Amino acid sequence: MQNILITGGAGYIGSHICLKLQENGYRPVVFDNLSNGHRDAVSPDVPFIHADIRDSAALNKAFDDFKPAAVIHMAALIEAGASMVEPARFYEVNTAGALNLLEAMRHNGCKHIVFSSTAAVYGNRDEGLLSETLEVRAENPYGRSKAMVETMLRDYADIYGFHAIALRYFNAAGADPEGRTGERHDPETHLIPLILQTASGQRDHIKIFGTDYDTPDGTCIRDYIHVDDLASAHVKALAHVIASENAAFDAVNIGTGEGCSVKEIIELCKEITGQDFGVIEDARRPGDPAKLVANPAKAQDMFGWWADYPSPRQIIAHAWAYHQKNMAKTR
Ligand code: UFG
Repeated sequence: MQNILITGGAGYIGSHICLKLQENGYRPVVFDNLSNGHRDAVSPDVPFIHADIRDSAALNKAFDDFKPAAVIHMAALIEAGASMVEPARFYEVNTAGALNLLEAMRHNGCKHIVFSSTAAVYGNRDEGLLSETLEVRAENPYGRSKAMVETMLRDYADIYGFHAIALRYFNAAGADPEGRTGERHDPETHLIPLILQTASGQRDHIKIFGTDYDTPDGTCIRDYIHVDDLASAHVKALAHVIASENAAFDAVNIGTGEGCSVKEIIELCKEITGQDFGVIEDARRPGDPAKLVANPAKAQDMFGWWADYPSPRQIIAHAWAYHQKNMAKTR
């Protein structure tokens, strides 16, 4: 059984990937500093290294102890809004941290990597669906901190022979369909969990950040991707990089190709939860692009992935089921 080192494996998306790796015959080894992740989000039978990606000695020990066949690199700061206030932290953790990891990989002879990138690398565009052939033009330091890692991966592929795929996630949401794990950020900043907390009475109201965007209803449009589909994409991308004989770097969108506005998501949440709640129209949040919707064709062509749960209804229903079962945890 191949060991897969997964940095940030105790996080929201990481915990779903661990389940998928196990279901597909891999052995995840989690490397996480628990700054945002939760130890109990990962099964006790998964080896767990409590350490930071900026700690080279801890990384070298992990490579030495577990000899991973590949790395899934997820550990990062994720809030685009926060990056507009504290960009240095994002470059330090996301960019310098990734360089530290790549160097540890290089020194330990591990050249296969799947990297968590983001749709935020595209920024504000007039194009309809976003394709990977577009030039990268992030709108905020968060997106730029990830785009820089993509650049490094391209060089590591060209010059050091790495096999790398950067998955550009659109908006991850939902929870494990079997309810084993779900979204638990503290503080929570993402739209769907915030709405569900409002629906269950944990918050007074939900604020809409901006109603004057150039979109049909004036609110931002995003491509919401079920976290279970996102996890499957990692397993398929991983198998692809491990099997590929030639060094290569590819950036690949992981989205559904369908967009949904903030107002539409709020209405769907009201319908699915059966709850009415307060909605306040507020100012724009700095750094938010008006519309981010994927052209997901490359993922299908390259490693046979497409979304099994493309409907925001299913995403919200699974998130709501998890939220109701874990109210104390998701607060
Ligand atoms: N929003 C609100 N009110 C809220 C929270 C969010 O109106 O209380 C809006 C945002 O302005 C945005 C949309 O809902 O228009 C989605 O916001 P999220 O914070 O849920 O997600 P983002 O689109 O900002 O970012 C997420 C991830 C990033 C990733 C990006 C890719 O956090 O890591 O999706 O699209 F890069």
